[in-house]
Amino acid sequence: MLGQALVEALQPVYQVIQIRHQSEAFDAVRGTGRSADEKIFEVDLSDPAECRNMIAIHKPDIVVHAAEYTDLDYCESMSSSRWLNIESARMLAGALPLSGRFVFISSDQVFDGARGPYREADKRNPVNTYGAQKVAAEDLVRMRKNALIVRVPKLIGREPEDQPGLLSSMRQAIDTRESGKLDDVCHHSPTWSVDVAAAVRFLLTRDAVGIFHAACPDGGTLYDLTQRLANFTGQSLAHKKPSSEIIKPCNGARRPVNNQLLSQKLLELGFPGFHSFADTLVLLADQGLIPGELAEH
Ligand SMILES: NC(=O)c1ccc[n+]([C@@H]2O[C@H](COP(=O)([O-])OP(=O)(O)OC[C@H]3O[C@@H](n4cnc5c(N)ncnc54)[C@H](OP(=O)(O)O)[C@@H]3O)[C@@H](O)[C@H]2O)c1
Repeated sequence: MLGQALVEALQPVYQVIQIRHQSEAFDAVRGTGRSADEKIFEVDLSDPAECRNMIAIHKPDIVVHAAEYTDLDYCESMSSSRWLNIESARMLAGALPLSGRFVFISSDQVFDGARGPYREADKRNPVNTYGAQKVAAEDLVRMRKNALIVRVPKLIGREPEDQPGLLSSMRQAIDTRESGKLDDVCHHSPTWSVDVAAAVRFLLTRDAVGIFHAACPDGGTLYDLTQRLANFTGQSLAHKKPSSEIIKPCNGARRPVNNQLLSQKLLELGFPGFHSFADTLVLLADQGLIPGELAEH
């Protein structure tokens, strides 16, 4: 999801090469092969040799690393997720010459959610494996003096067809009409993926280094956000009730309660800001990603 927004944001400024994992669009030889679109290459970043080859072949000036297993529960049970979530950062950051810029997309999951909202310098204390993997990758990336780390919360925007995200789950909760409960405990700040991509471009073009939070200023629980989406699209959410207990799969990853990120540092550099959830709904409707009956407005 973010990768596509990054390509669109960076292409006007840089010559962008996209790395994809698996796609039917490829007529490619693994590691080096070109797809039908000359600027897309198929690489398995969980393979250390392919990471090193990728840098050696393309000699990029900048690497923006946004490839992860992002499913908290998958990472909790699959220790092999570390090959993509930690080792690829080690390999890519290690292989890129020191003159190159390395940008790593990290997550609000590095915090424990007990004392949100969080600033960049606040103590990290992940409560799940995915968060711990992000902490480990951040530490590896920070060994490069000019590294840029951008922490983001839950993203909302155009989703890859095979990887439904927050927007799909909210729409499904509204559309299926099945009675049930939605989490009314954990706070989320759904941030438009296009805004995050714009923040990365802003930071890159200003040669910023260090850690930055990139998050929309408002948000709510999944129940609250889904209710607002239903209001916006003129649908009913009466079939869903708020759950005062955190909802997660059996043996699933622990969820932090409030991992809100403060983006003050980015705003003080002059970044114009992030769309609120209400404004993002309008943008999503404009793009045809949700029905556009502007009931909330
Ligand atoms: N989405 C969120 O709510 C959220 C929240 C916090 C942080 N983040 C961070 O934001 C970044 C982007 O997340 P996203 O939501 O855009 O993720 P996404 O939609 O799941 O995309 C992940 C990308 O990783 C690629 N990938 C997976 N395995 C790979 C492999 N072995 N080798 C090469 N590429 C591989 C996938 O490529 P293919 O499609 O070709 O397989 C896909 O393009 C990540 O760093 C994530 O941790 C996201």
